[in-house]
Order: sequence, then structure tokens, then C-alpha cells
Amino acid sequence: MAKNTVVSTSVIKRLPRYYRFLGELKQNGIVRISSGELSKKMGFTASQIRQDLNCFGGFGQQGYGYNVEQLYSEIGKILGVNNNRKTILIGAGNLGKAIASHMSFEQRGFNLIGIFDKNEALAGQLIKNIPIRHIDGMYNFCKDNSPSVAVLCIPSDSAKEIIDELIALGIKGFWNFCHYAIAANHPDVAVENVHLSDSLMMLSYRINNL
Ligand code: NAI
Repeated sequence: MAKNTVVSTSVIKRLPRYYRFLGELKQNGIVRISSGELSKKMGFTASQIRQDLNCFGGFGQQGYGYNVEQLYSEIGKILGVNNNRKTILIGAGNLGKAIASHMSFEQRGFNLIGIFDKNEALAGQLIKNIPIRHIDGMYNFCKDNSPSVAVLCIPSDSAKEIIDELIALGIKGFWNFCHYAIAANHPDVAVENVHLSDSLMMLSYRINNL
């Protein structure tokens, strides 16, 4: 796919799900799959699947379907799962610890290299063999290691100052769990906000509308 090809956000949002699903098929030794079978398993219509995958040059062949391995690898390239982006996590409280412990960063193209917190009592604790460092060491660590991604798990009242500093240190992407609107003030960086409460409210809405 050409770098500047514009693909709709809704298609992009479905790619991780395709990727995850194809990974499971691959693990189960399935070599090829039709759009019809994909549709039954994933809950999208077959025509939706064909349209989505056509955006990237169409990996399917009439009468054969999709080669699972090839499609998995192509979608992986589009998502950049082999990029190994150096990543740091700020805020090693309940949420930050859970994310650092349980997310498979490497499988998604990220390499968690540093964890920082302002609480001195946490310094030196290990999460997956990565020591929690005091936040005062973040500047030198970034200068020495040039991470490009930050995961923010700090309270929102601490966020602004730290985000400005991180951007000045070369951070290009934020995985943002704190309730602070980074993108509004920094259109030049990539921000992916994660708000579990939004998902919960969507559940409430959908139950109301059953
Ligand atoms: P917590 O209080 O357990 O952890 C926050 C950690 O951030 C503490 O260890 C604290 O020392 C550290 N911290 C605060 N300011 C800092 C700074 N300037 N530099 C470095 N470290 C700093 O809180 P918890 O439960 O982990 O939640 C963290 C934030 O994430 C909260 O603001 C909460 O509202 C938000 N949150 C968001 C969710 C989401 O779905 N987006 C879900 C749960 C929590």
C-alpha cells in the first residue's frame, strides 16, 4: 500500500480484529479461508470483508479465498507490528502495573524499555524484569535511549507538564489512559485514547436498546 493512501478510520479500526483472528487461524494450522467463512466467524458481512481487504490491494483470489499466512503478514505490516518501537510507561500504580505486566507489547510492535513513577517507594521494583525508575531519571533515560512512544497511566492533573516534556524529548505517539485531551493541544503527535468507561457506557446503551 502506498504510504499516503487514505483509508477510512473505520476500516483501520477493524484491522486489529482481522489480525487477531487470522493469528488464531494460523495457530490452528488453517491455510486458507473464504470471505464467507471469515464473515461467519467474525460477524462482519462477506462483502464488508471483501471491501475492507480490497482497500489494501485485495489479497484474495476468486475461487481460492484468502491465504491466511499472507493476509496475516500483510495486515501485520500495515499495522506495523514488526516495528519494535521503543516505549516507556509513566505511572506504575494499579493501572500502569497491570498494563506493564499483562500487555504483550512485543507482539504488537512495541518494546517496553522503561517504567517511571514519582513515588520513590516503587523505585527498583521489577515488572517483567524492567525496573521501575523514579520520574526524575526520565529525562536522561530518554536522551540515552530515544523512546518514541509513551503509555500514560498517571492522574490527569499530572499529565500536561509531563506530556510537554515527553514531546520535547521526541515522543511521537501516546497510548493515553489518563483523562487528558492530548490531541487537542498537540495535533503533531499520534494519540490513541483508551477509556474503559466509554466501553462500559456503550454496553449500557446497547442493553437499553435490545
Ligand atoms: P494509582 O494512584 O494507583 O496510580 C497512579 C500512579 O501515578 C501512582 O503510582 C503515582 O505515584 C503516579 N504518578 C502520579 N503523578 C505522576 C507523575 N507526575 N509522574 C510519574 N508518576 C506519577 O491510579 P490508577 O488506578 O493506576 O489510575 C491511574 C490513572 O488512570 C487515573 O487518573 C485514573 O483515572 C486513570 N484510569 C483510566 C482508565 C481508563 O480506562 N482510561 C481506567 C482506570 C484508571
